[in-house]
Order: sequence, then structure tokens, then C-alpha cells
Amino acid sequence: MSFAENTMAGKTALVTGGATGIGAAIVRLLGKLGARVAITSRKEENLKAAVQEFAEKDGIDVIYRVGDVRDADGIKAVIADIATELGGLDILVCNAAGNFICPTEELSSNGWRTVIDIDLNGTFNCCQAALPFLKKATRGGRIVAISTTHADSGWPTAAHAGAAKAGIQNLMKSLSAEWGKYGVRANWVSPGPIEGTEGVDRLIIAQGKAAEVLKRIPLGTFGQGEDIANAVVFLSSDMGAYVSGTELVVDGAARWGT
Ligand code: HXC
Repeated sequence: MSFAENTMAGKTALVTGGATGIGAAIVRLLGKLGARVAITSRKEENLKAAVQEFAEKDGIDVIYRVGDVRDADGIKAVIADIATELGGLDILVCNAAGNFICPTEELSSNGWRTVIDIDLNGTFNCCQAALPFLKKATRGGRIVAISTTHADSGWPTAAHAGAAKAGIQNLMKSLSAEWGKYGVRANWVSPGPIEGTEGVDRLIIAQGKAAEVLKRIPLGTFGQGEDIANAVVFLSSDMGAYVSGTELVVDGAARWGT
């Protein structure tokens, strides 16, 4: 079961952190549904391998540029370059993120700053750099940020990431209000734990917490990258045209608090 195969035909998209995990699943679905897609991240080896896999396994022609979302001027040049090569930019998916488990009383100020810088400042940098192109999108530009449900609940031992994601959510609300006049929609998807991602592998499975986490998910399984990709496609397609400034939670009804 999927969207009609031409759902994203004629659209151009950039997925930050699109070489791996949830980002790669988003790229795959956007591409399969007809969008021209670009990816950026820090590691060229990841980007190259991903582009090759998208071509060989999925039959999708994806372009890449090396970029660090923390570097405002650098990422501005990267986004302009990508938009030129794609012939515009309709959709920006702010997916690049960094995270690690660390009790807050032990967290160094540089550790805190690093995650805020990648997640929150990086999202701001990309949104601002993409705006001139999103403004020109014929059916309205789209920003979709990838957040987490822990942004609302607090995220013990990942307070840095929880705070950054909460900031991202608030930023999306501000952008939806300020940039609606340009036709730009800004929303966020909040995934629960998604199987096969670095986040779940490193933060849940490697900590021996898989069974405990699954008990808290009424639907009984981790999500799949495709579940998040479906949500992103809805928000960035013409079907999501009147949705802006809001959250789409995709977490199997997970309950962390009680
Ligand atoms: C404590 C740590 C640490 C750890 C890094 N730091 N890892 N502190 N515990 N495990 C501290 C370092 O000591 C340093 O502070 C500061 O953070 C910067 O670390 P660097 O390694 O120099 O930074 P950098 O190379 O830029 O790496 C960024 C990173 C890294 C975020 C720290 O983990 C990374 O690049 N990760 C890859 C992307 C990623 O994490 N993806 C998963 C996202 S999952 P000092 O003070 O020593 O200088 C996600 C959702 C998960 O977001 C959902 C699960 C349910």
C-alpha cells in the first residue's frame, strides 16, 4: 500500500542527513513517488554509498553535497548549489541530528552546545538558507522537521536533544506564522523509536532497553522508516496544502510517562 506513484512528480526536495536511517527512508519514498531529491551530510563516504544504493536498489537518481548544517555560510552555499542543480527547491526536510545518552549532571557545556548546534541551530540555518527557493515553489514551499515526542515529555539523559527538538517545534510554529505569506508551510513529524536507525540501535538496543521500551508502545512494535516517510510525504504533497504550524506524531501510541 502506498501513495499514487506520481504523488511527488515535478517536485524537488532536500533531505539533510538523508544518507542514513530515517532520512534515507524519506529520500527513498520521495524519489519513488517522482520527486528529484538531494541529500547533504558531513560524511562523503556515507553520501556516496547512499546515492549508489538509491540508484541500484530503488532506481532513484539522487544528488549529494557534503555540508555541515552547523556552518551557516557553508550550508547556505550548499543549498543554493543544490537548488540550482535541481532547478529549484520545493521541499526542505530538516532531518540531520546528533544525540547521545549522558546524564545531565555529567554533560559538558560543549556536549550540550554540540547537540543544540546540530539540531536546533542547524535547522534554523537550513530554513533560512532555503527560504529564497521555497518562496518560488509553484505549489507552496514545504518545511518538514523531524522531531521527537520526547520534546514534550522531557528526555532524561538526553536533555540536550530534548531541548533542541522542543526548540525546533517552536521554530516551526514561528516560521509557519511568518512565512505563510510566502506560501511556505512549516510542520514537524515526531517519530517514536524507529527500527534500524542509529538512534534506536545506540540509545535503546545497545543499552539493553528494547523489551522495556516495547512494553510502552501499545501497537507493540518499533516503527519503520517508511512510517515516517509516509508522514513526510503527506505534509509535503499537495494533499497537505492546508496543514501548517503543527505536529504529526508517528509513534504507535507510545506512552513514556506512566
Ligand atoms: C558524553 C559526549 C558523548 C557521550 C560526545 N560527547 N559524545 N559526552 N557522552 N556519549 C561530547 C564530547 O565529549 C564533546 O564534549 C562534545 O560532546 C562534542 O563531541 P564531538 O565528538 O567532538 O562532536 P562531533 O564530532 O561534532 O559529533 C557530534 C555528536 C556525535 C552528536 C556528538 O554523536 C554524532 O555525530 N553523532 C552522529 C549522528 C547521531 O547522533 N545520530 C543519531 C541521532 S538519533 P567535550 O566537552 O568533551 O569537548 C536522534 C533520535 C533518537 O536524534 C531517537 C531514539 C528514541
